[in-house]
Amino acid sequence: VGHIDDVQELRKAKPATVPERFIRDMADRPKVVPNLSSSLDIPIIDLSKLMKTDKDEVMQLKTACEEWGFFQVLNHGIDLNVVEDIEKVAEDFFMLPLQEKQKYPMAPGTVQGYGQAFVFSENQKLDWCNMFALGVEPPCIRNPKLWPSKPVNFREALEIYSREVRKLCKTLLKYIAVSLGLKGDVFEEMFGVAVQAVRMNYYPPCSRPDLVLGLSPHSDGSALTVLQQGKDSSVGLQILKGQTWVPVKPIPNALVINIGDTLEVLTNGKYKSVEHRAVTHKERDRLSIVTFYAPSYEIELGPMAELVDEKNPCRYRSYNHGEYSKHYVTNKLQGKRTLDFAK
Ligand code: SIN
Ligand code: FE2
Repeated sequence: VGHIDDVQELRKAKPATVPERFIRDMADRPKVVPNLSSSLDIPIIDLSKLMKTDKDEVMQLKTACEEWGFFQVLNHGIDLNVVEDIEKVAEDFFMLPLQEKQKYPMAPGTVQGYGQAFVFSENQKLDWCNMFALGVEPPCIRNPKLWPSKPVNFREALEIYSREVRKLCKTLLKYIAVSLGLKGDVFEEMFGVAVQAVRMNYYPPCSRPDLVLGLSPHSDGSALTVLQQGKDSSVGLQILKGQTWVPVKPIPNALVINIGDTLEVLTNGKYKSVEHRAVTHKERDRLSIVTFYAPSYEIELGPMAELVDEKNPCRYRSYNHGEYSKHYVTNKLQGKRTLDFAK
C-alpha cells in the first residue's frame, strides 16, 4: 500500500472530493439513505434459547439461514470485557502512525497484514477502508512477524477473543446442523482442525459517501463468519436481499453471523452465502472485526449426501478447501463470483 492509497492518510488531508480510484461506476454507487426506520431487519437469534434446543428458536435459525443467510445473535456468551478489549486494541492499532502499521504489510496474493486486500490491477477501484488481517488458528497458519507489538496487549486480546469466537462457531454449527435435520456434530467431524482468521476493517469518514464503497460487494469464503461492529460505529454493513441493499442495524452486544460459500456448497444451496458490502459515512468512522471460520485446508468437500436427492440434484462439484481458499484470496471481490469455482 502506497501512502496515497491509505484512506486514513487521505482523510487527514480532508479533500473536498476523493481520488478517482475510489469513485465507483454509476451503477455501483450506494444510495445514501438518511434513516433506517422503514427498512427490513435481519433476524435475531437468542443463543441461550438455542442451547436449550428450544424448537421455535431452531425454526427461527432455519428460517434465518434459508431466507437471509444473515442473523444477529444475542446472548452469545462472550464476555463483554473480551469484546471491549478486542475493539480497543483494533482501534488503537489503526490509530498508530502509518509507518508503524506498515511494519506489517500485506503481501500480494495473501490476506494477512495491513493494507488493501483483493487488489490485483491498476484500474481496479479501491475500497474506502483500511484492513488488518491475521491467520489465527491453527497456529501453523500464523505469521508471527505480522502480529503487532503495538498496542502491547494486542496479541493477548486477540488470543482470548479468538478462543471465545471459536467456541461460538462450534455451537452455532451444531444448531445449524440440527436445523437441517442432521446430527449435531457433522460439521465438527468433517472440518478437522478448523481454520480461523480475523480481519479488522477501519472505515474513516468520507467526504463523498455517495461515490465510494467501504467494501466491495462479495460473499464470504468461510463456512461461518462472525462480525462485531464497534460500539460507536456508524451503520455501514448492507446485505443484498433480492434487489435491495438492506442495512444491518447494530444492536448493542449482538454479533452478526453470516453463512459463507463453504456452507452453501455443503448444504447443496439450501443455506446460501449472501452478498454484502459496506458503505461509508460523511462524519463518522466505523470499525468492524470479522472472524472467518472454515474447514481445515486438507478437507475435500462437496454437497452432503443427506441433502442431495431427486428433488435437489447436486449443484456443486467436490473440491479441496485449501484450493478454494487460494482461489478466493487471489481474486478480486466481486459479488458471488468466487463460488463459480464450485460449479
Ligand atoms: C466484511 O464483509 O468483511 C465486513 C463488512 C463490514 O465491515 O461490516
Ligand atoms: Fe464479508
